[in-house]
Amino acid sequence: MAAAERPAPYLVGEIFFWKPFPFLPVKDAIARLRSALETALVKAFGPELVGTDPMLVPASNPKFGDYQANVALSLAKQWGKPPREVASAIVAALAIEDFCDSPTIAGPGFINLTLKADYLLGQLRSSQGSDRLGIDPVAQPQRILVDFSSPNIAKEMHVGHLRSTIIGDVLARVLEFLGHDVLRLNHVGDWGTQFGMLITHLREVAPEALTNANAIDLGDLVAFYQKAKKRFDEDEDFKERSRQEVVRLQGGDPDSRRAWQLLCDQSRREFQKIYDLLDIQLTERGESFYNPLLSEVVSALETSGLLVEDAGARCVFLDGFVNKDGNPLPLIVQKSDGGYNYATTDLAAIRYRTTQDRADRIIYVTDSGQANHFAQVFQVAERAGWVPAGVELVHVPFGLVLGEDGKKLKTRSGDTPKLKDLLAEAIDRSRADVEQRLQSEERSETPEFIEQVAQIVGLSAVKYADLSQNRTSSYAFSYDKMLALQGNTAPYMLYAYARIQSISRKGEIDFQNLDSTELILSDESEWALLKHLLRLDEVLEAIAAELMPNRLCEYLFELSKKFNKFYDRCPVLNATEPDRTSRLVLCDATARTLKLGLNLLGIAVLDRI
Ligand code: ARG
Repeated sequence: MAAAERPAPYLVGEIFFWKPFPFLPVKDAIARLRSALETALVKAFGPELVGTDPMLVPASNPKFGDYQANVALSLAKQWGKPPREVASAIVAALAIEDFCDSPTIAGPGFINLTLKADYLLGQLRSSQGSDRLGIDPVAQPQRILVDFSSPNIAKEMHVGHLRSTIIGDVLARVLEFLGHDVLRLNHVGDWGTQFGMLITHLREVAPEALTNANAIDLGDLVAFYQKAKKRFDEDEDFKERSRQEVVRLQGGDPDSRRAWQLLCDQSRREFQKIYDLLDIQLTERGESFYNPLLSEVVSALETSGLLVEDAGARCVFLDGFVNKDGNPLPLIVQKSDGGYNYATTDLAAIRYRTTQDRADRIIYVTDSGQANHFAQVFQVAERAGWVPAGVELVHVPFGLVLGEDGKKLKTRSGDTPKLKDLLAEAIDRSRADVEQRLQSEERSETPEFIEQVAQIVGLSAVKYADLSQNRTSSYAFSYDKMLALQGNTAPYMLYAYARIQSISRKGEIDFQNLDSTELILSDESEWALLKHLLRLDEVLEAIAAELMPNRLCEYLFELSKKFNKFYDRCPVLNATEPDRTSRLVLCDATARTLKLGLNLLGIAVLDRI
C-alpha cells in the first residue's frame, strides 16, 4: 500500500486511536443537551450542520450555569457573522425546557445552560436504592480486550508490572460497569530463548528444580536466570547448548516441555499471591499460546509483499521509524537464526484477537518505553489488513515509579524492591497508623478488625497513589504521602465513606428506606453536591474514551470536598423535616457514589474504620 493510502493514526492525548472512538450513550444531562443542541443547529441553519459538534463543556463557574456551548463562536468565525446573532438563532431553536431553565447568551456568544431544580431532584430520586446509581449500561456493548499486568516467567514482577496491573484492572472494571463485554488478558512472557538457557543451566546445577515443583522458589529461580544469562553471554558452548534446548522445547520434547511447565508453574504461584492480595482477576494467555501461529504471521506478511530480508533477518520497514542515527528502523519478525520476536507474537495475537475473540477494541497497558513497539506493531497489522474496519488498537502508556529522591526506586540496601515486600510494608505501616489512632481515641477493637482495616487501607493507599496520578507521568512512591489522612489519598476517601455510615448509625437511620417523595434543597452547598453527584456518568464516559483513571480519583476527591462543605454548613440529624430527610438522601447518595467509585478503582470500602 502506498504511503498516501495508509490510514493515519490520530492522537488524543497520549493514545493512538486507529478508529474514532464510539460515543457511549450513557443516559445523562450532557448527552441530552448535546443531542438537543445538534437538533437546534440543524433546525436553525439547515441540514449542512448535521453532525456539527456543539462544543459543550461544563461551565467554568457556577454563576454561568452548569454547562456552556461554544459552537456559535466558531460558526460565526467561519461565516463572518456576529457571534451573538448566531447564538440567538441556536437558542431560539433549542428545545430543552423540560430539563433546563431558559438559556442565556453571555460574553461574545457563549450559550449558558442551567439544569432545572426539578430535573436534578428527579435524577437524585431515580438513583436512590440503585447500585448503578441510575446509570444505564450502554445500548451497544463492545467486545473489549484489556491486555495488562503481563509479567515474565522466571523474573520478579517489578513496579512497572504493578502499575500495569492496577491501571489495567481499573480500565477493565469501568468498561465492564458501562456494560461492555470485557476480557482481561495476562500476556505473560512464558516463551523464548531465555528458557533454553535456564533449562540448560538448571540441568547442570540444580536438576531437581526441573522435576520437583517445590525444589526452589521464585527468588532462587530469578538468581538462576541471572546466572544463566551471564553464561549465555560469555560462553559460546553454553550458548549453543541453550539454542539446542530451545529447538527441543519448540519441537515438543517431553522432558523439555515438563521442565518448562514446572518453571512456569513456580512463577505463576508467586504472581497469583500478588493478584489475590490486590483482588485482580485475569485470564492467562501467555506468549506460548501464540507459538503455533508465528510462522503463519511471517508467511502472510511475505504474501502481502511487506516482508524484506535484511542481513538474514526478515523484517517490515515502516515510514516514520528511524533509529538514533536516522536510519530506517525495521520491525524484525524473524531473526537470522530463525527465531521469532516479541513483536511477532504481538502480531499473531492481533490476528487471533480480532478473528477468534472478535474484539472491537484491544487495549494494551504497558510502560511508555513500549510506545514505539506498539506503534510499529499496530501499523504493520493495519497494513497487512489484519485490523478489520471499526476495530481499535490502543496502547495505554504509563510513566515510571520513582523513589522519594526522584531516582530509581530502591530498597535501603540498594536493591530493586520486590512487589510483595512493597505491599507488605504498606500494610505494616497502615497497621501502625491504625493502632496509634485507636490508642489516641481510647478505642479498643478486635485484632481481626485492626487487621482488616490495615489491609484495606494499606493496599488501597498503594493503588490510589498510583491511579490518582496522570498515568503518563512518573511519580515518586512515598508511603507517608499515600497513607496521609488528608488530601487526595485512599485513607481520606475511606474515612469520608465511613463518616457518612456513622451518621446512619448515630441517627439509627435506614439509608435503604428513606422516603424521597418530598425533596427540598436550599443551601448552595447542597445544590453543588447534588450536581456533582450526577456527574459520575460523565466521568465514566470520559474514562472509557480517554482511558485515564485519574479522572475518577479527581471526581471522588472533589465529591468528598463538596460533601464536607455541605456537612459543615447544613445540620443533618438535627434538622427539621423535610430538610432532614432530603439531607439524609444526599448523604446516602454521596456514600453510594463513593462506594461505587472506589470499587471501580479496585478499592473495598469499610463501614467503620
Ligand atoms: N511481558 C511484557 C513485559 O514485561 C509485557 C507484555 C505486554 N503485552 C503485550 N501484548 N505485549 O514488558
